[in-house]
Amino acid sequence: MRTLEIDHPLVAHKLTVLRNKETHSSVFRQLADELVTLLAYEATRNVAVAPVELETPVTPMTGTKLANPKPMVVPILRAGLGMLDGLTRLLPTAEVGFLGMVRNDETLEVTTYANRLPDDLSGRQCFVLDPMLATGHTLIAAVDYLHERGARDITCVTLLAAPEGLAAMEAQIDPAIDLTIVTASIDEKLNEKGYIVPGLGDAGDRLFGVVD
Ligand code: URA
Repeated sequence: MRTLEIDHPLVAHKLTVLRNKETHSSVFRQLADELVTLLAYEATRNVAVAPVELETPVTPMTGTKLANPKPMVVPILRAGLGMLDGLTRLLPTAEVGFLGMVRNDETLEVTTYANRLPDDLSGRQCFVLDPMLATGHTLIAAVDYLHERGARDITCVTLLAAPEGLAAMEAQIDPAIDLTIVTASIDEKLNEKGYIVPGLGDAGDRLFGVVD
């Protein structure tokens, strides 16, 4: 597993505004979107490409285009939806699948309540979107799910990651998977409720409001 913590002043600036509890949902959504586009630039560094012949106004040449099959982007509902536009802005021809997963706040266990994905993901590069890599349970379940359907090359894009969650992923995910984690920050720790510290709170609530 490779972990990339993106060190860039614009990432640090936008993340600082997201962390502030006074930041309103509308600004939070806008900045999360911009931040994901910055992370997407690094996350797509090894996206598969193929040569293509073309003519410029001056001469024929060999250029580069995204290879087939096109990448699959998988936001984890609900909070991952706030990251979808930020990633597809750079990969507009990618296909989008959905995984609905929810964490029980008491046991921290994860259950899958919805999925909309092709049965066969062999040969597809997958980009999983989930803002908070906390215990790692959700992303471990999501990566296992994609792996069972044949995906071997998986990149998880998160706004924040906790060291505990990264360690759990390293320990539990099949090393045969070519797995990359891209994050804006590896924070200090998890608290007793499974929240990332210092973190930014509940990402789904901050993006979309509180649902009781
Ligand atoms: N999920 C969140 O939304 N926030 C955290 O800090 C941890 C998990």
